[in-house]
Amino acid sequence: MQNQPLIEVKDVSVLFPVQGSRQPVRAVDGVSFTVQPRETFGIIGESGSGKSTLGRVIVCLQKPTAGTLEHAGRDPYKLGSAQMRKHRRDYQMVFQDPNASLNPRMPVGASIREPLDIEGAMTRSQRDERVMELMARVGLHTELAYRYPHELSGGQKQRANIARALSCRPQTIVCDEAVAALDVSIQADVLNLLAELQEEFGLTYVFVSHDLGVVSHISDNIAVMYLGKFMELGPAETLMNNPMHPYTQALLSAEPVPLPRSMRTTKRIILEGEIPSPLNPPSGCRFRTRCPLATERCAAETPAWEQHGPNHWVACHYAGSSIVADAPAVSQGAQS
Ligand SMILES: Nc1ncnc2c1ncn2[C@@H]1O[C@H](COP(=O)(O)OP(=O)(O)O)[C@@H](O)[C@H]1O
Ligand code: SF4
Ligand SMILES: [Mg+2]
Repeated sequence: MQNQPLIEVKDVSVLFPVQGSRQPVRAVDGVSFTVQPRETFGIIGESGSGKSTLGRVIVCLQKPTAGTLEHAGRDPYKLGSAQMRKHRRDYQMVFQDPNASLNPRMPVGASIREPLDIEGAMTRSQRDERVMELMARVGLHTELAYRYPHELSGGQKQRANIARALSCRPQTIVCDEAVAALDVSIQADVLNLLAELQEEFGLTYVFVSHDLGVVSHISDNIAVMYLGKFMELGPAETLMNNPMHPYTQALLSAEPVPLPRSMRTTKRIILEGEIPSPLNPPSGCRFRTRCPLATERCAAETPAWEQHGPNHWVACHYAGSSIVADAPAVSQGAQS
């Protein structure tokens, strides 16, 4: 039996009104999943698939239009405003833009201290001491506390954002493309730091990224999102070795990393075309306009979200069929 999830998202949709259109954008459209304490839950998908909106739902920065969010079995929207303010500290977010949470007119140490100032639980000298501890822990020289954000590198700023997110001892951190703006060598350092902090502080992570390579290394479970809906969800190892949804297979096939066992072949899929507009998604299966396996049934019927193994869920009429088998062969050289 599993423990009580720390995060439970049930049938959540987020709709945004659009000027000049009677149809809203369905940024998130009926998504359900749970995250256990100390788990890393990865969400991948192309730009525009609704990942950031879903990340914001998890930390209560975006209220769902429909469906429910529970944190450790409780609906945070049923809390009073003072309790909600306190509760939000447990669910922090680190954004792609290293400048997003650092005030350009404040020294970096003051930005890291700001959540503690608002919390008001410690004396000024205790808060300053905590800032120095946090900076040292995330690998920042403490003298950088007196510098301004523009004097730091992207990697240093992202470490400062992580220190700020950690300042009020959260349970969960949602990392939204948190390493995407960094050089590849620095990405690895920041990912290692996040892994160490998780171990040390018992953190739960939701890791949002368009980069399957990044997510697959650190996640326990991964959800694959397309146009506001989950296409596949499962343990990272299952998804990497036995992807059952054509979209997951296509994403994996596009990776310059070693392919999963079931896909080790000279064939390679390049997804053609752009992700369609969420204002007017395709009928039936949303992926059908780009799916090599699409049939008439895919246009007529929305595929059900069905379980195919332990915690392995797929939305495809032909789940488990391989798109690789249908693809033209390419030379090994063209794979990298
Ligand atoms: N505040 C908003 N108002 C209107 N549309 C939005 C808003 N936020 C996101 N969207 C739209 O919702 C869809 C999903 O966006 P987003 O969650 O940012 O996706 P991703 O992070 O996967 O790129 C996009 O079509 C985007 O334009
Ligand atoms: S339901 Fe049809 S279009 Fe959608 S992923 Fe499956 S085969 Fe492709
Ligand atoms: Mg995003």
